[in-house]
Amino acid sequence: MLSGRRILVGVTGGVAAYKAAYLVRRLVERGADVRVMMTRSAQQFVGPQTFAAITGQGVASELFGAASVSPHTELARWAEAVIIAPATANTLAKAAHGLSSDLVSATILATTAPVLLAPAMHTEMWENAATRRNVAVLQGDGRTMVGPASGSLAGGDTGPGRMVEPEEILQALELLLKGPLSGVRMLVTAGGTREPIDPVRFIGNRSSGKMGFAIASAAVASGADVILVSSADLPPPSGARVVEVETAEEMGQSVVKLAQEVDVVVMAAAVADFRPAVIEETKLRRTDGIPEIRLEATPDILASLVALEKRPYLVGFAAETGSYDTAIQKAISKGVDLTVANDVAAEGSGFGSDTNQVALIDSQGTIERWPLLTKVEVARRLCDHLAGQLNERAAKG
Ligand SMILES: Cc1cc2nc3c(=O)[nH]c(=O)nc-3n(C[C@H](O)[C@H](O)[C@H](O)COP(=O)(O)O)c2cc1C
Repeated sequence: MLSGRRILVGVTGGVAAYKAAYLVRRLVERGADVRVMMTRSAQQFVGPQTFAAITGQGVASELFGAASVSPHTELARWAEAVIIAPATANTLAKAAHGLSSDLVSATILATTAPVLLAPAMHTEMWENAATRRNVAVLQGDGRTMVGPASGSLAGGDTGPGRMVEPEEILQALELLLKGPLSGVRMLVTAGGTREPIDPVRFIGNRSSGKMGFAIASAAVASGADVILVSSADLPPPSGARVVEVETAEEMGQSVVKLAQEVDVVVMAAAVADFRPAVIEETKLRRTDGIPEIRLEATPDILASLVALEKRPYLVGFAAETGSYDTAIQKAISKGVDLTVANDVAAEGSGFGSDTNQVALIDSQGTIERWPLLTKVEVARRLCDHLAGQLNERAAKG
């Protein structure tokens, strides 16, 4: 799970800095994209060249005069997670008080990524009331501590203050990076299907696919393994496996087959209810007169999923105009676990827009209305909601 993840390691001035070289090496071996920053004191213990050689990247240590105009904000934004190992009493104190007088402390202050601190110091420093206060403040601020362990310290002393081993730091990092949908396999459908009339024309709908794509991206960010079955012309979201389809029939076949391999199916696509009963082999011509196009029903994908013997958790989307009454009826009768109803006629909601106003309806018809949000935010909240539902399900057995 560390493969391709952008991990920033901050090394500060303690004897355990030598262990940071092994930590960085293990991160690189696990496929992470690693960059290193060091305090000046840290360079008294290990040279930046060591880290540069392991990562194949330059090591940052100064706020000013570096190649980057603003190295702390650049690194802070780049990182998916920051590890400070070892974390000195001095750097813990700075981080606890929001000080930013050097590159490492400024980056800790500037980042929104999770920060993992691996303290290392003599027992007296660790047990000092000031350090205890600083650690409590940092934990209260949502920073994660790993260690210190108890054991032999530099200079022959023994006691708490020893930096935990790199493998333990890696485990803590993995926990930190795990999203709420970690380990969940999710299938998302997106886009409006196209039902051909002849080789050049089709019956389509106004769905842009933005909502489904936002859900797929949010699910990837939440740690899920995502398959996106799409009929939309949008750039593929990174991290999701994309299966391209065009018609309701193709979408149905893919979804029903893949549904056996997943834990959740989110049907955000706008699937045609009707299609031309006959697809003309050659282009219909004006000169042949006005054609009559007879329609027939497309397969009901949700009904096929509901009928599966071992079915995944099912989320259906219902595009409504005006009231949610029909969506509530459908939520109760269709047998899906969750219905996301959206009022496509509401201001700022629906097809093509970047915002959406939705309501969640459970299988008993209980409705939870959400305010107007960006589709990205709806997707994020929906993923959190799904994580909660899956946990509840798992707890019930
Ligand atoms: C030999 C030696 C070893 C040190 N080891 C530690 C240590 O393990 N932990 C610590 O918090 N400070 C240690 N210090 C003190 C820090 O290097 C010092 O507080 C420094 O200002 C930390 O700066 P930094 O947080 O910017 O790296 C040590 C100092 C010396 C001289």
